[in-house]
Amino acid sequence: MRIGILGSGLMGGKLGTIFARAGHQVVFSYARSPKKLAGLARDAGRNSRAGTPAEAAREADALLLAVHWSRIADVLQQAGDLSGNLIVTCSLPMNAGNTELVVAHTSSGAEELAKMVPRARVVSAFNTVPSEVLFGVYEAGHKPGRPSLLYCGDDIGGKAVAAELIHGAGFHPVDAGPLRIARYTEPFALLVAQLAYEGEGGPELAYRFERFGKI
Ligand SMILES: NC(=O)c1ccc[n+]([C@@H]2O[C@H](COP(=O)([O-])OP(=O)(O)OC[C@H]3O[C@@H](n4cnc5c(N)ncnc54)[C@H](OP(=O)(O)O)[C@@H]3O)[C@@H](O)[C@H]2O)c1
Repeated sequence: MRIGILGSGLMGGKLGTIFARAGHQVVFSYARSPKKLAGLARDAGRNSRAGTPAEAAREADALLLAVHWSRIADVLQQAGDLSGNLIVTCSLPMNAGNTELVVAHTSSGAEELAKMVPRARVVSAFNTVPSEVLFGVYEAGHKPGRPSLLYCGDDIGGKAVAAELIHGAGFHPVDAGPLRIARYTEPFALLVAQLAYEGEGGPELAYRFERFGKI
């Protein structure tokens, strides 16, 4: 598949690298320095390159949206017309300090995003996992006992693509239902982050993801 990365930070940089290593064509876009994008593309191998958000979106089979909530409007504007595009979003609707969800209970970041790009197809995925475990899970992916990863959305074809990407990244894809289920998966993602970064045992807990299936 051709995959455009909108936001090449912790999540976008790692997932883009994994997608490229898994054989997809990847365009890394949207970082503060073009040098960083070029470095990511170099490290990810010959299936990847750096580009603008508009280049990442052009003819992409899937776009990974991985920016802070405050950057969503800007990156979408730079990407241009996304009619018909599949957007797999791992972005959580966090406040500036990353301490609270700014959308919750009666809606979700994923649903608000779908309203911003009504002609695109939105699937929520990859946000219930800390970025630190991504390479380890991918590398262990050929073994049995994969960790599960939730995804949700309203577009059946888009969900099939997301499930393929999740599986290719080393996880077992779990269909959590329609996009409105992001109202529950987004707060769950915060619980995972709390356990991973601040819970008893600190960051070590994040790495349990890689061992879940093997216990
Ligand atoms: N990190 C996690 O473990 C995790 C887990 C679950 C969900 N999420 C969600 O995933 C999303 C991305 O998180 P992340 O941790 O990957 O964030 P991040 O590392 O900060 O990445 C965001 C990307 O946006 C770029 N960016 C920010 N401001 C920009 C600007 N003004 N112009 C151009 N590019 C700009 C950053 O550029 P630079 O590379 O130059 O900084 C970076 O590449 C967030 O919504 C977060 O809530 C993250």
